[in-house]
Amino acid sequence: MVATLSDLLAEGVEGRGVLVRSDLNVPLDDNGAITDPGRIIASVPTLKALAEAGAKVVVTAHLGRPKGEPDPKFSLAPVAAALSEQLGRHVQLAGDVVGTDALARAEGLTDGDVLLLENIRFDARETSKDDAERRALAEALAGLVEGADGSPGAFVSDGFGVVHRKQASVFDVATLLPHYAGTLVATEVKVLAQLTSSTERPYAVVLGGSKVSDKLAVIENLATKADSIVIGGGMCYTFLAAQGLSVGDSLCQVEMIDTCKKLLETYGDVIHLPVDIEVADGFAADSPHETVAADKIPDGKMGLDIGPESVKRFTALLSNAKTVFWNGPMGVFEFPAFAAGTKGVAEAIIGATGKGAFSVVGGGDSAAAVRQLGLPDDGFSHISTGGGASLEYLEGKTLPGIDVLES
Ligand code: 3PG
Repeated sequence: MVATLSDLLAEGVEGRGVLVRSDLNVPLDDNGAITDPGRIIASVPTLKALAEAGAKVVVTAHLGRPKGEPDPKFSLAPVAAALSEQLGRHVQLAGDVVGTDALARAEGLTDGDVLLLENIRFDARETSKDDAERRALAEALAGLVEGADGSPGAFVSDGFGVVHRKQASVFDVATLLPHYAGTLVATEVKVLAQLTSSTERPYAVVLGGSKVSDKLAVIENLATKADSIVIGGGMCYTFLAAQGLSVGDSLCQVEMIDTCKKLLETYGDVIHLPVDIEVADGFAADSPHETVAADKIPDGKMGLDIGPESVKRFTALLSNAKTVFWNGPMGVFEFPAFAAGTKGVAEAIIGATGKGAFSVVGGGDSAAAVRQLGLPDDGFSHISTGGGASLEYLEGKTLPGIDVLES
């Protein structure tokens, strides 16, 4: 039985140091402005509850994949500002991870204060494969929330998007401190559990994104549970190639063609592929484009979206669904000319949700697409904050950051 934030609040946190691992890994534009604050917003309930209960809150998070040393490009400064705004209280940013500035600020916290540590991945020990190195960083993190009398602080795991990583701030620190699942982690796990057991049928899974290899395990695990798996996005061209079709210059993972052939042989009645494609002369927002049948992609052209007939067929499939999981865009939705497939399928899922289906958007690019295409967040039952984490959960893998909370 995993202890939760409510258990910690019931114990009382006034004046106690609480370390929270959040996932604040938000996309930034070229000027360093946050383009989708979804993960920051999702981290607020746990942080707010702790601050309001008088805890001394120390937040640790990562941004991007810096190389284990400080890099201003990956500073959490814009995140600290956005978090302050969302939380309605000032969030200080430490100038380092567990160095002198972090230590001095942690010591200076008063009840209800929130301190964000600089990008945890500026410290190479966070992602180290060496257990002792990770543990040393985890000990330093635990030290930041230790009471003046040497009493231990608490650890709240709330970064769902990162629970599939065995990293110091996700896994090791939970072995050192009394640990609790934050509101976001508890909600995400509950929702995803609904997609793997006692699922209401028909169950439709919509998969897109560029690589078949990223989705292979989830296809294999869900093919026996779902009634239909709808495939679009960059990965559909490898499936089309596996059917012996020519895909022109479209994205194609040649080394996965045989695997796709086997998947089609085994689960051909479950897997649904596009029947038409929006092809372009090149990968550019303003590239000339046209709709062609999926078996008539001309040489030299690349598919950048599924076509309108595919949207129609996928919509028909989705309209009766009682459960839907969607991960990955149907095309290059960032270019308006190639957004119709993603938008159309998203609208079909919203339609099914309106008729009572339970729908989950599996984080990452699909969550970004919902917001970028101006679709209503509340059109879906749940938008996960975890791309890789939600996929690994649905693959049936053990997530180290969840597993450790059970011990
Ligand atoms: C994500 O963006 O999926 C999470 O924040 C995890 O980031 P990572 O893939 O760099 O570990």
